[in-house]
Amino acid sequence: MRPTIKGSNVLVTGGAGFIGSHLVDKLIESGAKNVVVVDNMFLGDEANLVSAQKLGAVLYKDDIEIPSTLDYIFSRHNIDIVFNCATKALNYSFVNPKNAFDTNVSGVLNILEQQRKGSFKTLVHFSTSEVYGTAVYEPMDEKHPINPTTTYAAGKAAADLAVNSYVNMFGLDAFVVRPFNNYGPRQNYKGYMAGVIPITAYKILKGLNPEVHGTGQQSRDFIFVLDTVDAIVKLYDVMEPGGSVNISTDGQISVKELIHQISDIMKYKGQILEKPARGADVECHNASNLKVKGLIDYQLTPFDVGLKKTIEWYVENIK
Ligand SMILES: NC(=O)c1ccc[n+]([C@@H]2O[C@H](COP(=O)([O-])OP(=O)(O)OC[C@H]3O[C@@H](n4cnc5c(N)ncnc54)[C@H](O)[C@@H]3O)[C@@H](O)[C@H]2O)c1
Repeated sequence: MRPTIKGSNVLVTGGAGFIGSHLVDKLIESGAKNVVVVDNMFLGDEANLVSAQKLGAVLYKDDIEIPSTLDYIFSRHNIDIVFNCATKALNYSFVNPKNAFDTNVSGVLNILEQQRKGSFKTLVHFSTSEVYGTAVYEPMDEKHPINPTTTYAAGKAAADLAVNSYVNMFGLDAFVVRPFNNYGPRQNYKGYMAGVIPITAYKILKGLNPEVHGTGQQSRDFIFVLDTVDAIVKLYDVMEPGGSVNISTDGQISVKELIHQISDIMKYKGQILEKPARGADVECHNASNLKVKGLIDYQLTPFDVGLKKTIEWYVENIK
């Protein structure tokens, strides 16, 4: 029997990051008994956990790639469920391809080994739409071929296969959630690892010109982060072991259109710089969310509403 989130002790890896910290808040709201976070602070920020820590969440600033980190945490907390969000950002794989791959693979293998020896009961593993690569057919459902175009995505794809093989070999209770592009408060806006929405907001707030790479016609399916964590907590009760599920809207927006929408919200009238395309940039991510819709009461925030809330957060938080 899968333990219920309510009343369970839960570990969130990468829980000081963007999605992980919202998940931590959601798990507390859903009645988890104790929420423990492990994050090596590669991109995590303790500020993301201020409210969670006030409500009792515990943070370990440590690395899940080191097996003894997990030994130590599991020996101190009677963990029932693990949500594995830890990763190093996609853009990092362009500067340190091997390490980006390694983090995605060795982190989950260490967790699966803990699960195999009985340290906890259920694993929810975070994959990414990036594992699909550019669409072979659209919309991309869960049966779409896996065709990663970066070492980040290749590591993620390998991690997904590792989860499924441990389920098959050892009967573990684990499943894979596959978010598409998330946006919302707390998404990193600093440096080259920032995504397109935060970087555009940051540049405008700092008086710099926003940039579009390539034609700007590359499209993405953007989902509001609070919708993602809401869906994951609901999916927890119904997902089959070894299964995977896309978490996406069925909308599409081109990067160019997105930058124009952000500019409108921020009343920016200046120039948008045109830059060369980035190598290995996926052209299109048009997702199918039929499976998730069939499994849970799936609530999606309209894009303009979510984008406004997000920009408000950047305006408040970027000094
Ligand atoms: N943000 C998105 O649009 C998106 C889309 C699809 C999938 N995902 C997946 O969701 C998960 C969370 O993504 P995010 O956007 O919140 O990223 P994020 O970078 O904000 O969070 C990841 C966290 O993992 C931590 N971390 C990295 N290496 C670690 C290690 N070895 N040990 C412990 N902690 C480590 C980082 O410090 C960071 O806080 C990831 O698995 C990611 O692949 C995200």
